[in-house]
Amino acid sequence: MTETERILQLRRELHEHNHRYYVLNQPTISDQDFDFLLRELQDLEAKHPDLYDENSPTQRVGNDINQQFQQVEHRYPMLSLANTYSREEVQAWYEQVSKGLEGQEFEVCCEMKYDGLSISLTYEHGRLIRAVTRGDGVRGDDVTQNVRTIRCIPLQLPEECSEAKMQGGYPENFEIRGEILLPWESFRRLNAEREEAGERLFANPRNAASGTLKSQNSRVVAERGLDAYLYYLLGEELPSDGHYENLMQCARWGFKMSEGMRKCKTLQEVMDCIAYWDEERKNQPVATDGVVLKVNSLRQQQHLGYTAKSPRWAIAYKFKAERVSTPLLEVTYQVGRTGAITPVANMAPVWLAGTTVKRATLNNEDFIRSFDLHIGDYVYVEKGGEIIPKIVGVETSRRNADAVPVKFATHCPECGAELVRYEGEAAHYCPNDAGCPPQIKGRIEHFIARKAMNIMTLGPETVDDYYNRGLIHNIADLYELTPQQITSGNDNRLVSAKKVVKSISDSKEVPFERVVFALGIRFVGETTARLLARHFKDMDTLASASLEELLEVDGVGEVIAESVIRYFHDEKNIEILNRLREYGLQMRLSEQEMSGGSDTFAGQSVVISGVFTHHSRDEYKAMIERHGGKNVGSISGKTSFVLAGDNMGPSKLQKAERLGVKIVSEDEFLAMVAGDVSSSETVENTVDESGNRSLPDSNSEGIPQQLSFFD
Ligand code: IVH
Repeated sequence: MTETERILQLRRELHEHNHRYYVLNQPTISDQDFDFLLRELQDLEAKHPDLYDENSPTQRVGNDINQQFQQVEHRYPMLSLANTYSREEVQAWYEQVSKGLEGQEFEVCCEMKYDGLSISLTYEHGRLIRAVTRGDGVRGDDVTQNVRTIRCIPLQLPEECSEAKMQGGYPENFEIRGEILLPWESFRRLNAEREEAGERLFANPRNAASGTLKSQNSRVVAERGLDAYLYYLLGEELPSDGHYENLMQCARWGFKMSEGMRKCKTLQEVMDCIAYWDEERKNQPVATDGVVLKVNSLRQQQHLGYTAKSPRWAIAYKFKAERVSTPLLEVTYQVGRTGAITPVANMAPVWLAGTTVKRATLNNEDFIRSFDLHIGDYVYVEKGGEIIPKIVGVETSRRNADAVPVKFATHCPECGAELVRYEGEAAHYCPNDAGCPPQIKGRIEHFIARKAMNIMTLGPETVDDYYNRGLIHNIADLYELTPQQITSGNDNRLVSAKKVVKSISDSKEVPFERVVFALGIRFVGETTARLLARHFKDMDTLASASLEELLEVDGVGEVIAESVIRYFHDEKNIEILNRLREYGLQMRLSEQEMSGGSDTFAGQSVVISGVFTHHSRDEYKAMIERHGGKNVGSISGKTSFVLAGDNMGPSKLQKAERLGVKIVSEDEFLAMVAGDVSSSETVENTVDESGNRSLPDSNSEGIPQQLSFFD
């Protein structure tokens, strides 16, 4: 056998093993043997670059090349489904269908409604050629490269299943739609890892799947373990008139289908099916939120047609959020970085939609009052699409006669200071900002964060440790730390202690606008800090600005202005600022920033390639230099990124890909210059649909870090 033949054989075999493992759940070889074959294929492919195939099983691992998503128009628009919440509405729909079909007999296919992201996959001659997200239904993002890493999605259908070879084979061209999901297990693992890394948690598997699928780095996608279920076949020459029958064929071609689909002949059967899934969904490995009912015959579907938004031939019955009731044992209080107090309900542990729940936020005093909450009350806890449980009511009928109403704390649970509630605010605050440990530690954690002073050798645990050992009491103390103090005489830890001290010292170069952000002035997030820094140019001018002067800054309103004034009127803050100045932190805009520049691209080499729309090449060159970077002619391993316009030369593109050099579009580049993203930013910081970000960006608003509600 020639090496070329062996490559083709290995690809076929590995595709099949993937299918057996990820779709059928029936592997026939061990993981080790699989890896062995994969490695053989990798080696052979490396020897034969001319046989490169983007659909080869070796491509499932993804790569680190920064990708952009092109917008693609859907061949058939991706409509949504009308929702119902009651059996009566299901009955009404059923009767409507019957009427629309003028009394003809019809069957209804009942399937689970998966709660993920819809995806459209296009196949030509059995090869996956495109994967597009729903987008606005008319156009979506081309996420093919990421989808190739999802192991259960076939990249190449077996040739023997083609239409030419078998009855009911796959047509030359077809589209198949389905849902991409992050299974519960992977979701929990991912959130556990994020929690450990001090990153914001994903609220539910859907957001996590969405953030993952839009990741610019396909290796991240490959590692997260996405799954996919398919439920809708489209095309001009489908095997059968039956939706159910077509999906059964799809399963034979290698797709993972919606599990437990059932054809129903009567309304009663449909209702039984809904009742079955309402219970059974709790055992599913992925999130589901209802049952989809579809008229089975495609001919009848066509006859029934569509409204402007959704098909008349299908409807989604949505499950009610799962709800349990459990006794409230105690109310405790959490203190955030800004001193905001969050009351937390501690309940008798109860199993709810896949996790044990024992804590839930009570938000604030008004929330507690609105339920007239008493200790010992049975509270209703609900988990809808969100993973965070919510208290939605109280079973007042079960209240004990001698139950004691919950009285909001009067003093800080951490430092004992008397709490205050400012006029017009729902939250209580601990005013002891200088002496209350979680506030002090929270401010230091904010200060060291990547988007602030970027002292990444420190984290919440080290801050906690140094604070408890009395080494630091405020942000300025960091700059006086010595390796000896950190190790307290343990020489084994000297190397890492030196690294800590060095990275603290390195942070003295962090530009002024990030220093302003790092101070943690309430309501001053990253963007506001940048606006303030650029407007006032140095710390003294900012510190002495009047309310009117602050209000002159575009984007600064009264709440922010007052907060800035309050901050700079506090003696303790001025003392800290003076110390930071002494240590050498940046207290003014650099020359470069003054001239409209920044150090955004400091130390970076940038290659410009292609044709641009917004500015000329020369203008981009000047911009790179104004923002601290260097424009270089050719791509090498040292290139930081390529600024790519349209029609970038294919050889440059290939070289960039080979060397793993990032490709940055014109719009992305302009966003970097505007300071909206940094060139080193990773996936999670930019993409999560829910707006989740990885570090305490929004913490300036005084929102406490995510409570840990789960075991
Ligand atoms: S069929 C024209 N079947 O629900 C109808 N959709 O609200 C095409 N979904 O955008 C959709 N499970 O993302 C269909 N078994 C299922 C589904 C399903 C989940 C999603 C899909 C769609 C949304 C509609």
